[in-house]
Amino acid sequence: MRPVRLMKVFVTRRIPPEGRAALARAADCEVEQWDSDEPIPDKELERGVAGAHGLLCLLSDRVDKRLLDVAGANLKVISTLSVGVDHLALDEIKKRGIRVGYTPDVLTDATAELAVSLLLSTCRRLPEAIEEVKNGGWTSWKPLWLCGYGLTHSTVGIIGLGRIGQAIARRLKPFGVQKFLYTGRQPRPEDAAEFQAEFVSTPELAAQSDFVVVACSLTPATKGLCNKDFFQKMKETAVFVNISRGDVVNQDDLYQALASGQIAAAGLDVTTPEPLPTNHPLLTLKNCVILPHIGSATHRTRNTMSLLAANNLLAGLRGEPMPSELKL
Ligand code: NDP
Ligand code: DGY
Repeated sequence: MRPVRLMKVFVTRRIPPEGRAALARAADCEVEQWDSDEPIPDKELERGVAGAHGLLCLLSDRVDKRLLDVAGANLKVISTLSVGVDHLALDEIKKRGIRVGYTPDVLTDATAELAVSLLLSTCRRLPEAIEEVKNGGWTSWKPLWLCGYGLTHSTVGIIGLGRIGQAIARRLKPFGVQKFLYTGRQPRPEDAAEFQAEFVSTPELAAQSDFVVVACSLTPATKGLCNKDFFQKMKETAVFVNISRGDVVNQDDLYQALASGQIAAAGLDVTTPEPLPTNHPLLTLKNCVILPHIGSATHRTRNTMSLLAANNLLAGLRGEPMPSELKL
């Protein structure tokens, strides 16, 4: 006899096969999915979430008080296909006793790899160089042409020496980085020891670094952290990289810093908004390299994230320990 399908689960997007299969195997759940690669319209999200016991969502789904009200008292678990949780109204979620699952660790390597790729593409001007080959700008080998900045003997400042920040430092170290600096809410001497990284204030990090890499979580304290003051302190030869969240950066101030030559270049995997409108001023700058939030985008990583998100959801619904539960 088939078991009674008791728990309603709503999934806000098509997800990779391993996660999908895990949910399909759950005989105690009735799973509905927004079967598209494109974002779910608000009305559909509200319809899908109403009365659901479990919600599997993405970083682009804003789970705020209004949506929680629409979901109603059945909602017991929210599982996000991301390590970042800035799209979730955590205070409201906690008040309602809802458990939250997320995907730390499994995406750390992929994201660090992308951060290093972006840093190298930006400091060695790869998109500009590729464009010159295609448009006939490559007329000869020229001693002064397309020169950038290298990592050897450099100082790298990491904002947020967490899982991904450390994985970035680990990958950059063999390039001959001379010194690592980092910031955070407090020093992390055990994590920093591997890189002999020095804990400094944010202004010091801005002033001393040849490369600034933003790898912190987005919180009220980090929102707008990289602003006019920050960029004014940076060296004219310095390169800025952000793989965290767009809102950590004041983009108008970054534009000014790049356009005026206050800093050398920027590489962004994350922007505000996402997607960045194609007429955005940052896209007019040669010294700004922008990627469409692909930090964790390897086939294996996304599959693993989807399985973890599915398992978090199912464990939460069954009242079991989640593989990765966010402590609220
Ligand atoms: P961790 O929790 O391990 O690290 C977060 C870091 O943020 C910690 O080092 C923490 O430092 C730091 N931080 C928190 N508050 C502040 C503050 N006020 N000032 C400076 N630093 C602060 O998370 P992960 O490393 O796993 O992920 C980090 C973020 O990267 C995610 O939250 C997400 O937004 C982003 N991300 C982006 C991806 C992409 O595709 N581009 C992919 C994956 C993640 P401390 O605790 O010492 O204060
Ligand atoms: C996250 O997980 O927070 C990323 O931004 C996407 O993988």
